[in-house]
Amino acid sequence: MQEKSVLFVCLGNICRSPMAQTIFEKIVEDKGAADKFEIDSAGLGDWHTGNKADPRMRSHAEKRGYTITHRARQVQKNDFNKFDYIVGMDEQNIRELNNLATSDEHRNKILRMRDFLTQFDSDIIPDPYYGDAEDFEYVIDLLEDSCENFYDFISKES
Ligand code: 4NP
Repeated sequence: MQEKSVLFVCLGNICRSPMAQTIFEKIVEDKGAADKFEIDSAGLGDWHTGNKADPRMRSHAEKRGYTITHRARQVQKNDFNKFDYIVGMDEQNIRELNNLATSDEHRNKILRMRDFLTQFDSDIIPDPYYGDAEDFEYVIDLLEDSCENFYDFISKES
């Protein structure tokens, strides 16, 4: 497989996208393909730049054996040059990514995480920030399902 780069994007980069990044990194590692991927995440907002992921997200992640080490950063225009796939979590993310993209080539890199769901039926990966423990668990359920299928999608494309 040719080397691939993936950027997961949400609003704050402290819940959904660092969780997606961590799950995807684990999948890639388990498949023995870590050297074939560059994987990162970023947020459309800049409120949490430099911060670790939300403690609730980290704690729910740990319960399933994931350690999130990412520090939040904001999406940069250059990310559209740097990454092959830019994966948003909800329609607001997709709209804002489309607004930042400056060419069709860049816009074609934008994908919806929910399009890779197979076990669950949801229009979006919902923001758990104002939610409870169940909402955080549900985000991990959705991301484990979609990341697995996203990996298969990329593998078939190359
Ligand atoms: P995320 O969740 O987009 O999944 O990281 C959020 C985190 C923080 C905020 C919103 C959503 N916030 O408004 O600070």
